[in-house]
Amino acid sequence: MTGGRAAHDHWQTVYRAKQDAELSWFEEVPCRSLELVRGLPRVPTSAIDVGGGQSALAGALLRLGVQRVAVLDLSEAAIERGKARAGSGAERIEWIAADIRELSALGAFELWHDRACLHFLTEDAERRRYAALAAQSVVAGGFALLAGFAPDGPERCSGLPVRRTTAEALAAEFAPAFTLERALLVTHTTPWGKAQAFEYALLKRL
Ligand SMILES: C[S@@+](CC[C@H](N)C(=O)[O-])C[C@H]1O[C@@H](n2cnc3c(N)ncnc32)[C@H](O)[C@@H]1O
Repeated sequence: MTGGRAAHDHWQTVYRAKQDAELSWFEEVPCRSLELVRGLPRVPTSAIDVGGGQSALAGALLRLGVQRVAVLDLSEAAIERGKARAGSGAERIEWIAADIRELSALGAFELWHDRACLHFLTEDAERRRYAALAAQSVVAGGFALLAGFAPDGPERCSGLPVRRTTAEALAAEFAPAFTLERALLVTHTTPWGKAQAFEYALLKRL
Protein backbone atom coordinates (compact mmCIF):
# COMPACT_ATOMS: atom_id res chain seq x y z
CA MET A 1 0.00 0.00 0.00
CA THR A 2 1.00 3.62 -0.49
CA GLY A 3 3.10 5.02 2.43
CA GLY A 4 1.53 6.80 5.41
CA ARG A 5 1.70 10.49 4.35
CA ALA A 6 0.91 9.74 0.68
CA ALA A 7 -2.07 7.58 1.65
CA HIS A 8 -3.38 10.28 3.98
CA ASP A 9 -3.04 12.93 1.26
CA HIS A 10 -4.73 10.68 -1.30
CA TRP A 11 -7.80 10.12 0.87
CA GLN A 12 -8.01 13.72 2.03
CA THR A 13 -8.02 14.83 -1.62
CA VAL A 14 -10.67 12.26 -2.53
CA TYR A 15 -13.07 13.29 0.23
CA ARG A 16 -12.52 16.99 -0.29
CA ALA A 17 -13.04 16.80 -4.07
CA LYS A 18 -15.78 14.21 -4.53
CA GLN A 19 -19.44 14.01 -3.69
CA ASP A 20 -20.96 10.73 -2.48
CA ALA A 21 -22.27 9.96 -5.99
CA GLU A 22 -18.67 10.10 -7.28
CA LEU A 23 -17.36 7.48 -4.81
CA SER A 24 -17.42 3.99 -6.36
CA TRP A 25 -17.86 2.29 -2.96
CA PHE A 26 -20.72 4.52 -1.79
CA GLU A 27 -23.77 2.83 -0.28
CA GLU A 28 -26.75 4.81 0.98
CA VAL A 29 -27.47 1.88 3.30
CA PRO A 30 -24.77 -0.74 4.01
CA CYS A 31 -27.30 -3.54 3.42
CA ARG A 32 -24.99 -6.57 3.22
CA SER A 33 -22.98 -5.66 6.30
CA LEU A 34 -26.19 -5.07 8.26
CA GLU A 35 -27.72 -8.31 7.04
CA LEU A 36 -24.67 -10.22 8.31
CA VAL A 37 -24.66 -8.35 11.64
CA ARG A 38 -28.37 -9.06 12.10
CA GLY A 39 -27.60 -12.75 11.54
CA LEU A 40 -25.18 -12.89 14.51
CA PRO A 41 -26.29 -14.88 17.57
CA ARG A 42 -26.90 -11.57 19.38
CA VAL A 43 -26.38 -7.85 18.83
CA PRO A 44 -22.74 -7.09 19.70
CA THR A 45 -22.25 -4.68 22.60
CA SER A 46 -19.26 -3.01 20.90
CA ALA A 47 -18.08 -2.56 17.32
CA ILE A 48 -15.37 -0.81 15.33
CA ASP A 49 -15.61 0.07 11.64
CA VAL A 50 -12.09 0.21 10.20
CA GLY A 51 -11.84 2.57 7.23
CA GLY A 52 -15.44 3.49 7.93
CA GLY A 53 -15.10 7.28 7.85
CA GLN A 54 -17.91 8.31 5.53
CA SER A 55 -20.03 5.17 5.81
CA ALA A 56 -23.55 5.07 7.22
CA LEU A 57 -22.74 1.85 9.10
CA ALA A 58 -21.84 3.40 12.47
CA GLY A 59 -25.20 5.14 12.82
CA ALA A 60 -27.02 2.00 11.69
CA LEU A 61 -25.15 -0.08 14.31
CA LEU A 62 -26.23 2.35 17.04
CA ARG A 63 -29.84 2.01 15.88
CA LEU A 64 -29.46 -1.79 15.98
CA GLY A 65 -28.58 -1.51 19.66
CA VAL A 66 -24.77 -1.71 19.63
CA GLN A 67 -23.83 0.32 22.72
CA ARG A 68 -20.26 1.31 21.90
CA VAL A 69 -19.42 2.15 18.29
CA ALA A 70 -16.02 3.35 17.07
CA VAL A 71 -15.03 4.45 13.58
CA LEU A 72 -11.41 4.54 12.46
CA ASP A 73 -10.22 6.26 9.30
CA LEU A 74 -6.96 7.86 8.27
CA SER A 75 -8.79 10.74 6.57
CA GLU A 76 -10.15 13.51 8.80
CA ALA A 77 -12.26 14.63 5.84
CA ALA A 78 -13.89 11.18 5.71
CA ILE A 79 -14.58 11.37 9.44
CA GLU A 80 -16.21 14.79 9.07
CA ARG A 81 -18.53 13.33 6.44
CA GLY A 82 -19.26 10.34 8.65
CA LYS A 83 -20.15 12.63 11.55
CA ALA A 84 -22.51 14.63 9.34
CA ARG A 85 -24.13 11.41 8.12
CA ALA A 86 -24.58 10.09 11.67
CA GLY A 87 -26.37 13.32 12.70
CA SER A 88 -27.27 13.39 16.39
CA GLY A 89 -25.76 9.90 16.81
CA ALA A 90 -22.30 11.31 16.02
CA GLU A 91 -21.65 12.28 19.65
CA ARG A 92 -22.18 8.69 20.76
CA ILE A 93 -19.59 7.39 18.28
CA GLU A 94 -15.84 7.29 19.01
CA TRP A 95 -14.01 8.78 16.01
CA ILE A 96 -10.39 7.71 15.57
CA ALA A 97 -8.29 9.49 12.95
CA ALA A 98 -5.42 7.05 12.38
CA ASP A 99 -3.73 4.79 9.88
CA ILE A 100 -4.62 1.23 10.85
CA ARG A 101 -1.08 0.15 9.83
CA GLU A 102 0.48 2.35 12.49
CA LEU A 103 -1.48 1.15 15.54
CA SER A 104 -0.38 -1.50 18.01
CA ALA A 105 -3.52 -1.47 20.22
CA LEU A 106 -7.15 -0.43 19.80
CA GLY A 107 -9.01 -1.77 22.84
CA ALA A 108 -11.54 -4.62 22.89
CA PHE A 109 -14.52 -5.06 20.56
CA GLU A 110 -17.11 -7.76 19.92
CA LEU A 111 -17.34 -6.84 16.24
CA TRP A 112 -14.62 -5.65 13.84
CA HIS A 113 -15.93 -4.44 10.48
CA ASP A 114 -13.91 -3.52 7.40
CA ARG A 115 -15.41 -2.94 3.98
CA ALA A 116 -12.89 -1.98 1.33
CA CYS A 117 -10.07 -0.80 3.59
CA LEU A 118 -8.05 -3.99 4.18
CA HIS A 119 -8.00 -4.63 0.43
CA PHE A 120 -5.61 -1.65 0.01
CA LEU A 121 -3.03 -3.52 2.11
CA THR A 122 -1.24 -5.35 -0.66
CA GLU A 123 1.91 -6.41 1.20
CA ASP A 124 2.07 -9.62 3.23
CA ALA A 125 3.82 -7.99 6.21
CA GLU A 126 1.21 -5.22 6.63
CA ARG A 127 -1.63 -7.75 6.28
CA ARG A 128 -0.04 -9.94 8.97
CA ARG A 129 0.16 -6.94 11.31
CA TYR A 130 -3.48 -6.08 10.53
CA ALA A 131 -4.60 -9.66 11.28
CA ALA A 132 -2.61 -9.66 14.55
CA LEU A 133 -4.24 -6.36 15.61
CA ALA A 134 -7.70 -7.76 14.81
CA ALA A 135 -6.93 -10.91 16.82
CA GLN A 136 -5.78 -8.79 19.75
CA SER A 137 -8.80 -6.47 19.57
CA VAL A 138 -11.71 -8.88 19.04
CA VAL A 139 -12.83 -10.67 22.20
CA ALA A 140 -13.25 -14.47 22.23
CA GLY A 141 -16.57 -15.36 20.61
CA GLY A 142 -16.62 -12.03 18.74
CA PHE A 143 -16.55 -11.53 14.98
CA ALA A 144 -14.60 -9.86 12.19
CA LEU A 145 -16.66 -8.98 9.12
CA LEU A 146 -14.33 -8.26 6.21
CA ALA A 147 -15.36 -7.24 2.70
CA GLY A 148 -13.22 -6.46 -0.31
CA PHE A 149 -12.95 -7.08 -4.03
CA ALA A 150 -13.33 -10.71 -5.09
CA PRO A 151 -10.81 -12.29 -7.52
CA ASP A 152 -12.98 -11.16 -10.47
CA GLY A 153 -13.45 -7.66 -9.02
CA PRO A 154 -11.55 -4.56 -10.20
CA GLU A 155 -7.77 -4.42 -9.84
CA ARG A 156 -7.90 -0.88 -8.45
CA CYS A 157 -10.15 1.06 -6.09
CA SER A 158 -10.02 4.86 -5.87
CA GLY A 159 -7.10 4.65 -8.32
CA LEU A 160 -5.01 2.55 -5.90
CA PRO A 161 -4.00 -1.11 -6.37
CA VAL A 162 -5.86 -3.62 -4.19
CA ARG A 163 -5.42 -7.24 -3.21
CA ARG A 164 -8.41 -9.20 -4.50
CA THR A 165 -9.15 -12.31 -2.49
CA THR A 166 -11.66 -14.94 -1.41
CA ALA A 167 -13.27 -15.47 1.98
CA GLU A 168 -11.34 -18.73 2.31
CA ALA A 169 -7.99 -17.03 1.63
CA LEU A 170 -8.88 -14.29 4.13
CA ALA A 171 -9.75 -16.93 6.71
CA ALA A 172 -6.33 -18.53 6.15
CA GLU A 173 -4.65 -15.14 6.73
CA PHE A 174 -6.59 -14.65 9.99
CA ALA A 175 -6.09 -18.23 11.26
CA PRO A 176 -5.68 -19.65 13.85
CA ALA A 177 -7.28 -16.82 15.87
CA PHE A 178 -10.39 -16.74 13.62
CA THR A 179 -12.40 -19.31 11.69
CA LEU A 180 -14.69 -18.75 8.72
CA GLU A 181 -18.40 -18.68 9.64
CA ARG A 182 -19.93 -17.33 6.41
CA ALA A 183 -18.84 -16.28 2.94
CA LEU A 184 -20.98 -14.14 0.69
CA LEU A 185 -20.39 -13.05 -2.90
CA VAL A 186 -21.97 -9.66 -3.50
CA THR A 187 -22.31 -7.56 -6.62
CA HIS A 188 -22.01 -3.93 -5.60
CA THR A 189 -23.33 -1.38 -8.07
CA THR A 190 -21.45 1.92 -8.10
CA PRO A 191 -23.50 5.15 -8.10
CA TRP A 192 -22.92 5.30 -11.90
CA GLY A 193 -24.21 1.76 -12.46
CA LYS A 194 -21.03 -0.32 -12.77
CA ALA A 195 -21.01 -3.80 -11.24
CA GLN A 196 -18.16 -4.69 -8.85
CA ALA A 197 -17.61 -8.19 -7.40
CA PHE A 198 -17.14 -8.09 -3.63
CA GLU A 199 -16.62 -10.99 -1.26
CA TYR A 200 -17.72 -10.76 2.37
CA ALA A 201 -16.14 -13.01 5.00
CA LEU A 202 -17.61 -13.39 8.48
CA LEU A 203 -14.88 -14.71 10.77
CA LYS A 204 -15.38 -15.86 14.36
CA ARG A 205 -12.77 -15.17 17.04
CA LEU A 206 -11.94 -18.41 18.85
C1 LIG B 1 -12.96 2.44 -0.37
S1 LIG B 1 -13.26 3.41 1.05
C2 LIG B 1 -14.49 2.44 1.90
C3 LIG B 1 -15.23 3.27 2.93
C4 LIG B 1 -16.27 2.51 3.78
N1 LIG B 1 -15.67 1.41 4.51
C5 LIG B 1 -17.42 2.05 2.94
O1 LIG B 1 -17.62 0.84 2.78
O2 LIG B 1 -18.17 2.90 2.45
C6 LIG B 1 -11.79 3.09 2.01
C7 LIG B 1 -11.72 3.89 3.30
O3 LIG B 1 -10.60 3.44 4.06
C8 LIG B 1 -9.85 4.54 4.51
N2 LIG B 1 -8.46 4.05 4.58
C9 LIG B 1 -7.66 3.70 3.55
N3 LIG B 1 -6.49 3.24 4.00
C10 LIG B 1 -6.55 3.30 5.37
C11 LIG B 1 -5.63 2.98 6.41
N4 LIG B 1 -4.41 2.49 6.14
N5 LIG B 1 -6.02 3.19 7.69
C12 LIG B 1 -7.25 3.68 7.97
N6 LIG B 1 -8.14 4.01 7.03
C13 LIG B 1 -7.81 3.83 5.74
C14 LIG B 1 -10.09 5.64 3.48
O4 LIG B 1 -9.89 6.94 3.99
C15 LIG B 1 -11.54 5.37 3.08
O5 LIG B 1 -12.45 6.08 3.90
